[in-house]
Amino acid sequence: MLLCRQFIQGDENMIPQRQIDEIIEKNDIGDVIGEYVRLERKGSGYMGLCPFHSEKTPSFSVHEGKQIFKCFGCGKAGNVVNFIMYAENLNYPEALEFLAKRAGIELEHSADKRQEDKARLINSIYSVNRTAAKFFYDQLKHNRQAQKYLYDRGLRTETVKQFGLGYAPDSWDALYRHFTESGAAPDVELLVKAGLITKKRDSDTYYDKFRNRVMFPIFDVSGNVIAFGGRVMDDSLPKYLNSPETPAYIKGNHLYGLNIAKKSQSERVIIVEGYMDCIALHKSGIHWAVASLGTALTHAQARLLKRYFKEVIIGYDADGAGQKATLRGLDILAAAGFRIRVLSIPDADPGAKDPDEFLRTHTADEFTALADRARSAVEYRISKEEERYPPTSMESKAAFVRGSVRILASISGDAERDMYCTWFSDKYGISKDSVTSEIMKIRRSGSYQDPEANGGRMPVRNIKNAVTGNNNAEDTADIPERVKQDKLEKTAILLMSDDRRSLEKYYGDIMRLSASKPNRTLLEKLKKRYESGERTGHEAVIADASELPERDVKLLTDIVSGWLRPSDIGQACADIVNRCRILDCDIRISCINEMLNDNAINEADRFALIKETAAIIEERKKYSNGH
Ligand code: UTP
Ligand code: MN
Repeated sequence: MLLCRQFIQGDENMIPQRQIDEIIEKNDIGDVIGEYVRLERKGSGYMGLCPFHSEKTPSFSVHEGKQIFKCFGCGKAGNVVNFIMYAENLNYPEALEFLAKRAGIELEHSADKRQEDKARLINSIYSVNRTAAKFFYDQLKHNRQAQKYLYDRGLRTETVKQFGLGYAPDSWDALYRHFTESGAAPDVELLVKAGLITKKRDSDTYYDKFRNRVMFPIFDVSGNVIAFGGRVMDDSLPKYLNSPETPAYIKGNHLYGLNIAKKSQSERVIIVEGYMDCIALHKSGIHWAVASLGTALTHAQARLLKRYFKEVIIGYDADGAGQKATLRGLDILAAAGFRIRVLSIPDADPGAKDPDEFLRTHTADEFTALADRARSAVEYRISKEEERYPPTSMESKAAFVRGSVRILASISGDAERDMYCTWFSDKYGISKDSVTSEIMKIRRSGSYQDPEANGGRMPVRNIKNAVTGNNNAEDTADIPERVKQDKLEKTAILLMSDDRRSLEKYYGDIMRLSASKPNRTLLEKLKKRYESGERTGHEAVIADASELPERDVKLLTDIVSGWLRPSDIGQACADIVNRCRILDCDIRISCINEMLNDNAINEADRFALIKETAAIIEERKKYSNGH
């Protein structure tokens, strides 16, 4: 069973969702359990003697339509995978493997050979890419126009060599012919898989993907050529053409220039948008630069950077897209544990929109000085609020203060938060006391975002946890209201599994309200299923629950076994979310009451808490009036 251990831990070895669904689908619960228990038909399902506890009268039920089992005697319940886990005493992946074998499904992870084949294919792609890169590099020597283009952009031989820049000739098959003429017959399939040539539709001929473009090979950290970007030399579109995703190149898993930047010995790294920005920085001797190539930064890229650096400076363009990418990048990088700062080029030189343009008219030292002065993430976020709510009216200014206070409240270190409060009140002329007390309120209500704590997302914590700094909401699971809320949420998730619109409408509400990590996990998985077009429905939810605590699986099965599907799922979800909101108010109020009972509390805090209770009661009224 060593194999199983491995594939629970390693992400790559996990059984894909699609295959788990297939395994469950091909193992009918009635057939499987029928091999263990003598079942008798009763109504829409079967009854039998429970195999998990000793009994004389049957209390073990199997529901074929819903593909679940439940024992009314001992409470064991779940889907076919859960049954096998109990019956064969296996863990989750082992049970899946067991059922896969039973249904004759070949597990992708166990297909060692297939993995080997894939590794071989990837290596072959590296190899043809390297040949292609060499070809493009050589072609550059024969094309004056391309040489001039690079020269005009300030690049000299040394940089061209370092980045392996090249030129793809203005021809339909120059690269293809290069492979043909270099001896052995080319593996056409391989060239297609590498994204270097494309098959013409309805014909057996192939043509080069990159034609008449300046070529930028993309390297991975180990220096393999994994893909290419090709730029036109005029204003035609698309400006850059990039390799498609291939087995060797998954977008969002790599960063341009990291193969060089990782050797820089620097603790900080700057992320820029474009090929040319990255190259310009390296050319100026700033070797701690990488480019995300115009796509949104991913968690995989953040983790990759974390291997080499401690601090990230985001140096994206000042346009709308760049700023949006910056804000998203902040969360992702914070989740990876980086110190983050944001650099704005046009603030220093309005004539330059990106690092490449800046470096055409400024020195490397000037750039480094800018980087040294780059704003912190908090300053940047607050400046964005200021742009959004310019101080032109009292209303707008109030909105700015509200937004900024939320940002300040999210700073987790007390001393650091205090430092920023001083800075904020000085800079914007707002009394520090009022800022601090607003922050207190937000932190107490637990509704602040603490991106560093939880991948950028944090549900509303209950007050008790926020005050004690206890981040583990699970230990309030025994409060009766929480138990109710848990069941309501699970019911909503099951309902949403049949109705995408309800999911879209209430996803945010439940993620925010829920104190249950398992429920949030379920909901996220459900959303992914919709997004990737995988199977949905309650069976899918129960399948997703198989790795959650037993108690969650049981409760889900309970709900499904007892439920009557409402005719209007949207309305049912709306009601549930509303009830969850009311419960959440109740929980907050009871936590405040508990705090008020504490004699150590000072008068100011007591007053604030009472005021807050009044606000919550108002909020609750709104919900119970059905809003
Ligand atoms: P930009 O449009 O900011 O271009 O795109 P740039 O890097 O400043 O390019 P130059 O200076 O005009 O040569 C940033 C990045 O987005 C990707 C490329 O990776 C580019 O470097 N991009 C942009 C594309 O992939 N395709 C495009 O058509 C445009
Ligand atoms: Mn540019």
